[in-house]
Amino acid sequence: MSGRAENMIQLIDVSKEYKMADSCRVALQHINLTISEGEYIGILGLNQSGKSTLARLLNGLLKPTTGQVLINGMATDSPQEIRQIRQLLGMVFQNPDNQLICPVVEEEIAFGPENLGLPPEEVNKRVDWALELVGMQEMRYHAPHLLSGGQKQKVALASVLAMQPRYLVLDEPTSMLDPLSRREILEHLCRINQENHITIILISHHPEDLLDAKRLILLHEGSIYMQGTPKEVFKDMEKLKAIGLKRPGLYQLIQQVEEEGYRIDDNIKTIPQLVEMICRI
Ligand SMILES: Nc1ncnc2c1ncn2[C@@H]1O[C@H](COP(=O)(O)OP(=O)(O)O)[C@@H](O)[C@H]1O
Ligand SMILES: [Mg+2]
Repeated sequence: MSGRAENMIQLIDVSKEYKMADSCRVALQHINLTISEGEYIGILGLNQSGKSTLARLLNGLLKPTTGQVLINGMATDSPQEIRQIRQLLGMVFQNPDNQLICPVVEEEIAFGPENLGLPPEEVNKRVDWALELVGMQEMRYHAPHLLSGGQKQKVALASVLAMQPRYLVLDEPTSMLDPLSRREILEHLCRINQENHITIILISHHPEDLLDAKRLILLHEGSIYMQGTPKEVFKDMEKLKAIGLKRPGLYQLIQQVEEEGYRIDDNIKTIPQLVEMICRI
């Protein structure tokens, strides 16, 4: 089929309806979206805006009601291609307890690669690599269920990374974590994107989680409401207010400073960085 592209995710006029006994709920409507390998995308939206439905459409857990979801040219509704799609696209969910099944961290991380039928040396290499990426080498022989919430989420992340996916979809991965673990997970994602060139698709209802994204997609009632860089999206206060979304404090400050005639660099991601920049100008 023409128009199918390698090295990207394509959603072509995708809608998803949930059919229930006597009603029908439209969760997503007419979504057109292209995500290239290597991008860092944030997906933002209030509760029930369709974020998790979108995540589940990406790895074929759900099939679109109409339209097509293509992962590197492979359609998620094709039974022959779903196995390969799941190798290309890894998923991390909100609650790591639902994802951890083995008694020892290293077994947990080896589980996926072993199921791919890889030789033991390669499995071992991947366990080392994945543990290092999330800074959990010391926990290799620990029991996952005895770890803290943040550590569990890092193990869940490592077990997906050990499959060496091209795309990583994370559905509210930090929402059960304390602020420090939250920050750590976000820093790991940045590094995984920049150094390992794995595409990050991070879903959250907290705008603050998504400041590292290069592109932000804002969902509202199942449609794409806005998209752009975080700065572009968070600048439009009226449009955000119209749907009841609060923008991060950082962007309120940036706007105030820019209204004074100063230009703030797009790389500014934290309030301390902003303060430092203001001191310089
Ligand atoms: N399994 C389901 N059955 C019926 N309706 C669902 C189901 N899952 C989600 N929905 C509905 O689809 C809409 C989008 O939900 P969801 O994708 O979970 O949004 P979000 O992740 O942004 O909270 C909501 O109206 C929700 O009630
Ligand atoms: Mg959700």
